[in-house]
Amino acid sequence: MFGEAERKELNDVLKNGVLMRYGFDDMRNGHWKAKALETELQKTFQTQYAQLVSSGTAAVSVALASAGIGAGDEVIMPTFTFVASFEAIMALGAIPVLVDIDDTLTLDPKAVEDAITPRTKAVMVVHMCGSMGNLDALQGICSRHKLLLIEDACQAIGGTYNGKPLGSLGDLGCFSFDFVKTITCGEGGAVVTNNKVYYLNADHYSDHGHDHIGADRGAETHPFLGYNFRISELHAAVGLAQIKRLKEFLAIQKKHYTIIREALSQIPEITFRTVPEGGEENYGFLNFFLPNLNIARKASSALKNMGVDGCFHYYDNNWHYVRKWEHLMGMKTLYPMSKEVKDGISYLQNKTFPQSDHYIGRNISCLIKLSWTESETRERANTMVEAIKEALSV
Ligand SMILES: Cc1ncc(COP(=O)(O)O)c(C=O)c1O
Repeated sequence: MFGEAERKELNDVLKNGVLMRYGFDDMRNGHWKAKALETELQKTFQTQYAQLVSSGTAAVSVALASAGIGAGDEVIMPTFTFVASFEAIMALGAIPVLVDIDDTLTLDPKAVEDAITPRTKAVMVVHMCGSMGNLDALQGICSRHKLLLIEDACQAIGGTYNGKPLGSLGDLGCFSFDFVKTITCGEGGAVVTNNKVYYLNADHYSDHGHDHIGADRGAETHPFLGYNFRISELHAAVGLAQIKRLKEFLAIQKKHYTIIREALSQIPEITFRTVPEGGEENYGFLNFFLPNLNIARKASSALKNMGVDGCFHYYDNNWHYVRKWEHLMGMKTLYPMSKEVKDGISYLQNKTFPQSDHYIGRNISCLIKLSWTESETRERANTMVEAIKEALSV
């Protein structure tokens, strides 16, 4: 949802013409949109530091690199996520160790504990579809085994756990502001942390290693190698207007979610995804389970045929679930892969994940849109009930 606020912030940037977030101090007329958005993010997530980057994928990459994760290190991640999780891990020469999910739709703490080896450096919990992992258990495991906890909260901005914002509970938290997220910059992302060293690393690494000291970019030093994961002022400007509307957006999502959930609750065969005790989802998706894979497939087709968009059966989706990641299992890269990574992920060729199949096979995940009116949402809820009843009857 865009309006005057987004246009005003964007026009500020276009008027003075500085599209880059760093430097050009004299030309900016005081406009530092990325810096202003970082301040807003610190307030929203109650963390000491926030570093904007160019995408959620960049956020995960920068978070891992900032914590010193690299060649040969193992990072535990769930079988249900977006491909960005293993892309970011492998780009650093680290090894993604995929483990089963449970009915929270993210890491099963027992599966995490079983996967720990002397090479494990971090656990990456991915708060999928607006809700969260069992953070108490995962924090306990990480502190017992001295592992980093990295939260990918790209899909769960505004969700909370024991009253704290998701993304602020681990050592580092990652967000995406791409076009389909609750708040958007068009493309963008952020890393949040309370650790000053990780923050400074993120600040430098995401801008070629620039130390950002002084007002002469050419004279800045480069304490270590970096890359370009910068956000532009144009993207940050949109995000700055959007973050101020987060509460309003969350309230709309909750209202729409509640209407649909109440309607689906009439169907006794449906159960809902578990939200861990103390957690509150961001209501960006409604996730539910059907009795078996066959019924879930039928329900997915019936929903599509009746014109209900945005309902995903991730078991058959190419991007979010391990079953369809043939490019990962087949190690299909454009360039030669390091031996360490090749050996590290070879386990995937024979590994099966029956527990994850049990949950993802039966799960339908419905996007909750901000732009619906109340009557459209009610109409949609009724059509969904009809579609699912049809799937259950055949
Ligand atoms: C869980 C998760 N992590 C990371 C990303 C990557 O975000 P982006 O599209 O901004 O690169 C996404 C994007 O959908 C995501 O869903």
